Amino acid sequence: MKDSIDISVNIAGITIQNPVMTASGTFGFGREYGDFYDVNKLGALVTKGLTLLPKEGNPPPRIWETPAGMLNSVGLENPGVEKFIEEEWPYLSKLSIPVIANIDGDTIEEYQETAEKLSTLKKLAALEVNISCPNVEKGGLAFGQDPKSAFEVIEAVRKATNLPIIAKLSPNVTHIQEIAKAAVSAGADALSLINTIVGAAIDIDKQQPVFSRTFAGLSGPAVKPIALRMVWEVCDAVDVPVIGMGGITTWQDAVEFILAGATAVAVGTANFVNPTAPLEIIEGIKSYVKMKGQSMESLIGAARNGKNNI
Ligand SMILES: Cc1cc2nc3c(=O)[nH]c(=O)nc-3n(C[C@H](O)[C@H](O)[C@H](O)COP(=O)(O)O)c2cc1C
Repeated sequence: MKDSIDISVNIAGITIQNPVMTASGTFGFGREYGDFYDVNKLGALVTKGLTLLPKEGNPPPRIWETPAGMLNSVGLENPGVEKFIEEEWPYLSKLSIPVIANIDGDTIEEYQETAEKLSTLKKLAALEVNISCPNVEKGGLAFGQDPKSAFEVIEAVRKATNLPIIAKLSPNVTHIQEIAKAAVSAGADALSLINTIVGAAIDIDKQQPVFSRTFAGLSGPAVKPIALRMVWEVCDAVDVPVIGMGGITTWQDAVEFILAGATAVAVGTANFVNPTAPLEIIEGIKSYVKMKGQSMESLIGAARNGKNNI
């Protein structure tokens, strides 16, 4: 039976049945979570970041709990695009929801080749281009920290694929609007933000940094106010849909991002604490839409000047 409350939204030409996605790297390739619940209930599934060749990632420890969040230094461990196509795509391609592949690279050519290989997959809905990972030696961070290189990498991926492109922005910048504008002018159909914020932790027994790379990426509730501010700023700067993320744990958090201007949201760290968080957030958004008697569309950006007449 069709759900009577319509909370579907459109991102980069893709209609999703509800605005809740999984954030890359926090949901693997979906299969493990498929044991807990029907992942076809999500709006869309975003895969773990993929690179052209397999990556072993960083040495342990990779995760460190912090007050109201966590630091991670996974280092983009992944099986590489070819193994993904062989081993993970058969499961993902059978899902009824859009699947978005998150891609990464150390060089522009790597991004391009990865995009080309994934573009052969019928049914892949979009590419999320990660120009913002803080846990790798080269590539990611540098691309997302400078408007010129953000433009170059998105432009190169644009040439390599006809799939919709979602550029995933780094919060580790002074002027996020400049990067957002560069990514859109290079051909991004949508933007997602934020990735993790660079942080550090020191082991006081060993008197040395916890992580082999010293710095790691902070996520979870601690980053939410920063993420919300950046989503607001980016919605001021560009006209493409924005997927908001960073510390979303409850449906109220998700609604805040939507009212700030996000068309959709992604749930990341909350998946580790409560695997069914995305489903609870979907139900909460539905109840909110019903309670307020407003359409999903009218909620997007409703906290911005002039749109709210409550
Ligand atoms: C363990 C872990 C792995 C992640 N891996 C990726 C990744 O491969 N690609 C990517 O674009 N973002 C990755 N992220 C960032 C998340 O997708 C998300 O942008 C960030 O964690 C903020 O959302 P949250 O506070 O809800 O977790 C990762 C985050 C975590 C915690």
